[in-house]
Amino acid sequence: MSVVFLNDRYLPLNEAKISPLDRGFLFGDGIYELIPCYQQKMIGLDPHIERLQQGLSATKIAFNWSKQQWRELVSQLVERNNIPNVGIYIQISRGADTNRSHGYPKNITPTLFAMAQPIADFNPNTNNTRLKIKSELDRRWRRCDIKSTSLLGNLMHFDSAQTDGYDEILVHSDKNIVHEGSSSNIFVVKDNQVSTPIANQTILPGITRRLLIKQLIKSTEIQFEERNILLSEAIEADEIWITSSSRQIQPVVNLNGQPVGTGEVGDVYKNIAEEYYKTYF
Ligand SMILES: Cc1ncc(COP(=O)(O)O)c(C=O)c1O
Repeated sequence: MSVVFLNDRYLPLNEAKISPLDRGFLFGDGIYELIPCYQQKMIGLDPHIERLQQGLSATKIAFNWSKQQWRELVSQLVERNNIPNVGIYIQISRGADTNRSHGYPKNITPTLFAMAQPIADFNPNTNNTRLKIKSELDRRWRRCDIKSTSLLGNLMHFDSAQTDGYDEILVHSDKNIVHEGSSSNIFVVKDNQVSTPIANQTILPGITRRLLIKQLIKSTEIQFEERNILLSEAIEADEIWITSSSRQIQPVVNLNGQPVGTGEVGDVYKNIAEEYYKTYF
């Protein structure tokens, strides 16, 4: 039985109970974070905590843990669950009120729930993941920069992809500007030039995206740019990659049923994924 953390203590998952009046349940009124940890090594802990704190402040959820307290929580869950490759989910809702009402209630205590869940290993040298994705008009809200637990829009997009036999969605604006996946950021490569959408309110500023950008900027052979990318450019790309904390960097070989580039994993991916792996793992 996995060990989880609820509010102020560690306990077995089956003993963790939350009120039905919790605003996380009633409204999706909360934020969350996923911190990946491979063989005891946390990837991007500080930026994950910073994004969590920004989410709390944007949603006015008063929860003032220090970096040290978050770090301790993540370490404890890693240790107590003893899973080699693990994602630590931290979920914070505004808390449970005494009735259901839209206004932010005063003086309620936020609910903190955290758990450990296995994630796939990441090793670009042995990884043989090849993803198929499809594109669709983005129908989510306009604050996708907040890592909110209100994920129904993302879930509906992901279901649409799965229903049609794809691994992930690629959502775009009504002007055909590429945004991101249902739970991942996107990178496209053309002629050795790597681009990713600008981190505005249409996408989540992914931590894996951020770490990969650092690596790309260091590389002398690759040109990198954050810019608006048209769907037509993604269709014409030599390579497409997606990034997320639970998947790291994965190559996409098929978009809307058509091969991306040659339809094989590209050389730019192979090189940068290896450099990224050496830097962070
Ligand atoms: C919508 C969305 N975009 C991008 C990402 C990737 O972010 P990160 O690299 O921080 O996991 C996620 C992760 O869950 C996501 O849900």
